[in-house]
Amino acid sequence: MSDSGSAPWWVVVTGASQGFGAAICTELAPLLPPGSRMLGLARSQQGLATTAAAVTKANPAVTFSPVVMDLATAKAVDYEAALEDNLGTSQSSPPGQALLFQNAGSLGSLKYLREMDDAAHLSAYFNLNISSVILLNAAFMRLISAVSGKVKVKIINISSICALEPFKSWGLYCTSKAGRDMLFRVLAAEDPGVRVLNYSPGPLDTGMQVHARTETQDDDIRKAFTSMKEEGKLLSCQTSVRKLLQVLEKDEFKSGGHVDFFEV
Ligand SMILES: NC(=O)c1ccc[n+]([C@@H]2O[C@H](COP(=O)([O-])OP(=O)(O)OC[C@H]3O[C@@H](n4cnc5c(N)ncnc54)[C@H](OP(=O)(O)O)[C@@H]3O)[C@@H](O)[C@H]2O)c1
Repeated sequence: MSDSGSAPWWVVVTGASQGFGAAICTELAPLLPPGSRMLGLARSQQGLATTAAAVTKANPAVTFSPVVMDLATAKAVDYEAALEDNLGTSQSSPPGQALLFQNAGSLGSLKYLREMDDAAHLSAYFNLNISSVILLNAAFMRLISAVSGKVKVKIINISSICALEPFKSWGLYCTSKAGRDMLFRVLAAEDPGVRVLNYSPGPLDTGMQVHARTETQDDDIRKAFTSMKEEGKLLSCQTSVRKLLQVLEKDEFKSGGHVDFFEV
């Protein structure tokens, strides 16, 4: 990923405490120029500490800053402070590249839509899965535009097949993933200088899949997830992250487009 002699990069990864987000950090770290800074956001201090140790092992010349934050309740000022405290300010030298991976996400209630009755859950769900993404994107873009000098910026949404296909009893997740894809399409239209990608990572062997196998109300969908696990069809995070990094390096994707693991 790095050109020899290029300036240090700034990288932000949400949901960096486990699963796909942790794998983004550890797979990307060895590819970064010395002095690069990586900011990982999540609620689990222990998970972030594990990721920090793995990043340092993968590339001691990269600084990983763990920031414990609940993205469902964070405000714009919290994102601004996290970015300025750990990446840089308007006075900083411009980074060689600035990458933001909007990876954090949750399934939420896996009940049929006709059974949804908890307004507080819906608010918290969409705060995490939509609003936090809008606020962090905006804070990131404001910081980059305040830094003098031209910066190559890539903003990546970790999407899903659920952005495109309806899954019974997965109404919240499908809605949030479809909404996020559109959000990133609008971002690409508004800011042609920013490279924007919706990446669908395929079925991953993570905690989210355990939740899917155990909590999905719809029998057909729950059995489909159970079968995928039993038949060894889940991907490792490492495999899917490597494909994502190849897509980013090639840099041939349509900005705002949706790229699926199985189609590249
Ligand atoms: N697993 C799959 O099969 C699959 C398939 C397609 C797409 N995806 C997408 O890939 C992304 C990563 O999923 P995963 O499978 O790695 O899931 P995961 O193992 O459940 O990890 C989710 C990450 O999001 C963070 N997170 C959740 N709620 C948060 C909150 N309120 N505040 C801050 N961070 C929060 C978690 O950190 P803390 O708990 O420490 O806060 C964790 O690091 C998600 O966007 C998911 O929708 C997954």
